[in-house]
Amino acid sequence: MTYDILIRRASIVDGTGAEPYITDVGVYDDRIVAIGELSTASSRQVIEAEGRYLAPGFIDVHTHDDNSSIHQPTMLPKITQGITTVIVGNCGISASPVKLAGEVPDPMNLLGESDDFFATFEAFADAVETAQPAVNVAALIGHTTLRAGAMNRFDRPATEAEIDTMRESLRQALRAGAIGLSTGLAYTNARQATANEVKALVKVVGEEGGIYTTHMRNERETLFEAMDEAFETAAHGNVPLVISHLKCADVENWGKSEHAIEKLEQAAARQPCNCDCYPYSACSTTLDLWRVSDQFDILVTWSKPHPDMGRKLLKDIAAEWEVDMTEAARRLMPAGAIYHNMDEADVRRVLAHPLTMIGSDGLPSDPNPHPRLWGSFPRVIGHYCRDEGLFALPEAIRKMTSMSAARFGLTDRGVIREGAFADLTLFDYDSVLDGASFVEPATPAIGIEWVMVNGRVALTAGEVQQRSGRLLKREGVID
Ligand code: ZN
Ligand code: CU
Repeated sequence: MTYDILIRRASIVDGTGAEPYITDVGVYDDRIVAIGELSTASSRQVIEAEGRYLAPGFIDVHTHDDNSSIHQPTMLPKITQGITTVIVGNCGISASPVKLAGEVPDPMNLLGESDDFFATFEAFADAVETAQPAVNVAALIGHTTLRAGAMNRFDRPATEAEIDTMRESLRQALRAGAIGLSTGLAYTNARQATANEVKALVKVVGEEGGIYTTHMRNERETLFEAMDEAFETAAHGNVPLVISHLKCADVENWGKSEHAIEKLEQAAARQPCNCDCYPYSACSTTLDLWRVSDQFDILVTWSKPHPDMGRKLLKDIAAEWEVDMTEAARRLMPAGAIYHNMDEADVRRVLAHPLTMIGSDGLPSDPNPHPRLWGSFPRVIGHYCRDEGLFALPEAIRKMTSMSAARFGLTDRGVIREGAFADLTLFDYDSVLDGASFVEPATPAIGIEWVMVNGRVALTAGEVQQRSGRLLKREGVID
């Protein structure tokens, strides 16, 4: 047979955690069709890959790319990292199903303006397919988005009737191909939701099939209680759980990762659960009064009423205005910020754990984004694996490929094997590294040489070639 593309003599890190080995890979149409000695085979195109590593395309399990996959379909921050699939709709906020008018509730404003939201999952899916992004997109449905569709105010638990409305729109979205439910229970507009409100929704996920991801109610003083709530909620619906960006925020809670990991392991012995993590000790989200602290730097990234304050420290803005930081924050809101509120030792402990997947949590519509948007995956390989020796390369790749595909139900992805989709990333191990920093956040990674999505070349030499991403519907959902 004649292959479309033959990748010759690459070191294959197949995503399963197995040791790398050198061989050839033949791609035909959208699949990997042959792996082995193929030196006499004919192919329309040949990539000489000696000295480089070929991995399954990376899967970014934690993103807010709902709208960037439609409006910036080249998906530069992602494809330049070797990412070939993004999971959108995390932290309780998704672009569908909801109709919005006027001011967009926090933190849904991280996704865009009111006309960036879609009344149905089908309309969102159509928009993604029409835009043809460079990477594959699979979508969660956000609890806060469901609330915005069913409730007139957020400062209370939902009524039975409102819960029924949310259950119905969630069910429709899952039947149309959404892959699960996310919550963001720490946020002001979701925290009045009771555990029972969330359980009622997770039950629907259990009935239809899918996953539950949660930005937990607390990542600080009651972290362990919040983890217990997450385990119990997922168990109630009999669904797999992913704890989003597991962390110990604020100085008083540093060091709690040891026990948090113990709890995760204990839970994993009873029920399917994992967590995701980005490789930085600073977080980023909207600015809210309860997040303000003088114990660490808070960098304002955007502000609706004061756009000129972006890239300034909250404490400097407060000094300039001669008010305290809480008052400064109040005047800046709605706004976004980067909080340097974690301990490096906690980040490493979570990152290195075998139940942890990599998710960037990047915020593509932020004008001054956290560098995780452009740098997470190459940073895990170049900084934490190669330079710091936190884990071996096959394990680093497993955390961004096969574990993620298995957990999120992405069939035939996340591995290099015959019959799998040809989502592939070729990189130079000696030079691979994040280019983005807190000073220059929108900088592409280095060392990612060639990326393929669904059998089409997506990136070479830093340039986007074809955009061949697909909307990935939940397994069993037929178009
Ligand atoms: Zn979050
Ligand atoms: Cu998030």
